[in-house]
Amino acid sequence: LARGNAEADLAGRHVVVSAGGTREPLDPVRYLGNRSSGKQGYALARTAAARGARVTLVSANAALPDPAGVDVVHVGTAVQLREAVLKAAADADAVVMAAAVADFRPSAYAPGKIKKRDDKADPTITLVRNPDILAELSADRARPGQVVVGFAAETDDVLANGRTKLERKGCDLLVVNEVGERKTFGSEENEAVVLGADGSETPVPYGPKEALADVVWDLVGARLR
Ligand code: CTP
Ligand code: CA
Repeated sequence: LARGNAEADLAGRHVVVSAGGTREPLDPVRYLGNRSSGKQGYALARTAAARGARVTLVSANAALPDPAGVDVVHVGTAVQLREAVLKAAADADAVVMAAAVADFRPSAYAPGKIKKRDDKADPTITLVRNPDILAELSADRARPGQVVVGFAAETDDVLANGRTKLERKGCDLLVVNEVGERKTFGSEENEAVVLGADGSETPVPYGPKEALADVVWDLVGARLR
């Protein structure tokens, strides 16, 4: 589907997309973060809106303008992203987790800036697990028939790792990207395979993130009907 003349095949649907990368604060001036640009999630939000859906975009730290016609909720951490996604998912037909969610957060937050001190040992950062939002969404569907989609970036054994991850998460579709040196982070293009819980495999050739987004909505739409 080309975007300019897209059919409104998602009219009457509410879809939730998470995008960007969470930041887990250490103190008021520092955080643990990741390189996700948010571009794939924003492309998903724009294409869904172009296809007639009501779209809630839960955006974590993406330096991108709010897309027109989309409800954007800005969050910082994984815990905040979970809260915003679960709230929006309550009446959603589909949820797509394109955000890079930090697996861990610092176990403690220092309310004042951490200082280096010569009279003390160098600090160690201890981490605790963040909630797995995709697994939770998949296990406790807010609505019967709600379609849940995950993303995974893998460096090797892409298909085998993707299949295992899809089963572990319990989602309906998993978009698997191969990441490497120049691939994916911050780029305008993407190449992927979309794995389905029904055993399907949909390769998406290297191309604009909008094209991958349209394939995702085609597969979601087919599962909604
Ligand atoms: N995800 C999530 N909550 C987390 C971690 C990941 O919802 N705490 C979602 C991501 O948004 C993505 C999918 O799970 O859609 C896969 O993320 P990934 O990091 O590949 O999966 P993990 O289970 O964290 O596995 P890994 O050990 O490979 O990082
Ligand atoms: Ca992870």
